[in-house]
Amino acid sequence: MCGIVGYAGNKSVVDILLDGLEQLEYRGYDSSGIAVKCKDGIKVYKAEGKLGNLRNVLSNCLDEFKTSTCGIGHIRWATHGAPTVLNAHPHTCTCGNLVIVHNGIIENYKELREKLTASGCTFRSQTDTEAVAHLVARKYFEVKDLTEAVRLASKELEGAYALCVMHNDYNNTIVATKRNAPLLIGYGENEFFAASDVPAIIKHTNKAVYLNDNEIATLNPAGIKFIDGEGNVITPRVETLPWEPVALSKMGYKHFMLKEIHEQSDVIRNILIGKLHAPDENIVLNEVKLDKNTLKNLNRIQIVACGTSLHAAMVGKYLIENFCDIAVDVEASSEYIYRKTVTDTHTLVIGVSQSGETADTLTAVKQSKARGSHILIITNRPDSAMAREADSLVPVNAGIEVSVAATKSYTAQLMAFYLLALYMAEIKESMSKTDLQALKAEMMQLPQKVDQILAQTDEIKKCAHAFANTKNFIYVARGINYPTALEGALKLKEISYINATGYPAGELKHGPIAMLDETMPVLSILMLGTVYEKILSNSEEAKARNAQMIALTNSDDKKLDDLFDYIIRVPAVQELFSPIIAMVPLQLLAYYIAEFLGKDVDQPRNLAKSVTVE
Ligand code: F6R
Repeated sequence: MCGIVGYAGNKSVVDILLDGLEQLEYRGYDSSGIAVKCKDGIKVYKAEGKLGNLRNVLSNCLDEFKTSTCGIGHIRWATHGAPTVLNAHPHTCTCGNLVIVHNGIIENYKELREKLTASGCTFRSQTDTEAVAHLVARKYFEVKDLTEAVRLASKELEGAYALCVMHNDYNNTIVATKRNAPLLIGYGENEFFAASDVPAIIKHTNKAVYLNDNEIATLNPAGIKFIDGEGNVITPRVETLPWEPVALSKMGYKHFMLKEIHEQSDVIRNILIGKLHAPDENIVLNEVKLDKNTLKNLNRIQIVACGTSLHAAMVGKYLIENFCDIAVDVEASSEYIYRKTVTDTHTLVIGVSQSGETADTLTAVKQSKARGSHILIITNRPDSAMAREADSLVPVNAGIEVSVAATKSYTAQLMAFYLLALYMAEIKESMSKTDLQALKAEMMQLPQKVDQILAQTDEIKKCAHAFANTKNFIYVARGINYPTALEGALKLKEISYINATGYPAGELKHGPIAMLDETMPVLSILMLGTVYEKILSNSEEAKARNAQMIALTNSDDKKLDDLFDYIIRVPAVQELFSPIIAMVPLQLLAYYIAEFLGKDVDQPRNLAKSVTVE
């Protein structure tokens, strides 16, 4: 979380920093700030809340920056200390000569703070970052070299960080380093950039170096220098970024979330291009390196992910077990990394992540890699840190997702799992050719079915408005749609702040049913297939407790009209593909409730799109 950006060049710096921060706002929006080198020294400006507030602060003092061509900026997702101006970055040392921006968490900040306070430093914020500012300043006092000061200070830091540092003694110079947090250095003509992610710099350059842990870059328009953690000069590889600058536009939709929901049929079409040509042809996954022998030698698969990606992983388990007869465990990465996990060379570990940089999932993947497991990554960012750990890769091609609440990337992850499970089944010959062909034919129909749902949103909107003022919401489903219930509930709570929970329908009677009365909406995901009748019975039990009943169904069973107060109908689909068809209306339901309530749909409170801290 948090985004950092730096510029050392020959152009006016403030717009470059603000534009860069705007592209990084998905990483947090609790506060923002910049530090720029002016004629009379470094000046720091900060504001609480969204970037627009910082723009307002700066609009009164733009003349000060006219000649300034070097600066650093930060967008914050608060970890240590409330989201106030005082805790906003950049942070300074006691005398104010050194400024710093930081993404990550310094785990030993308390010890550092005590030591530095005892030696005379004055702390002004509650952040972990301020300890780094004082520490680097102390080292600078000793060695009188900013790069060396950063290197020596880094040795005393525990945790994760990407840092950019400036000092009043240096003109047009930024020192940047990282450990377990992303940082790339962009190359322009007599100008250099530092940023947490590509979108912050891609407008200016597509040439960049991805810094490795402990490497330090010293940026100055006259040239750039890299050293490793031991101080040796190194020459890193300059890569061409596989990105085009894109103008992020809502294309007439009120919110990015609504636009991204409506993009989903095209997302499905895109992921199928080049991977599935016809039902009687094999699936093509060029970057998956699992041959028959490797698959035969696997005794289990573990999937690690967080949040929405975890829900996609739960559907993936269902598919792989069903199609390939291999046991699959799914676990939240944050749980996986702090216990003894039995992974070895006979385990396939699949990491699922939209951003490809979620800290917990990245750590889980690295741990399994160290134990010799084959690592397969499903991600929307093939240029990410996680993708760089992959032995096999399934890019999901959902395009940039701006809304913090994931929608199209979830659908794309599900599609990746369908393709992967069918691909493995083909290699393993664990399904008959006829069954495989039937599934592939059905999969190719999905875009039209999603289009049908998107063309008829009135019923969903009506239902949303009827329940917008509820305090609680229950989603129930069974089997392959249990993850759909979890994801539906997650979408609603994320953007509307309504307390929504997903349950396996059969579990209602083991406790949650006690909460049911006429104030509680229960949404049953009733897709035709193996567990349809079972969920119907569970819905009857809820109705008998006077709950307000909503059905999301592809059945035209007349019985439903008596049982449910609202019915959202979706097209008929083979049960195994119903998670895709069922999720789209649930995304819309959450969207229309939040929109009706006037919530900040694209940037809900307390969240960030990319979670780079554990
Ligand atoms: C929910 C959401 C989050 C992410 C989670 C993992 O809408 O977006 O729950 O799914 O933070 O992020 P990635 O997929 O980037 O690893």
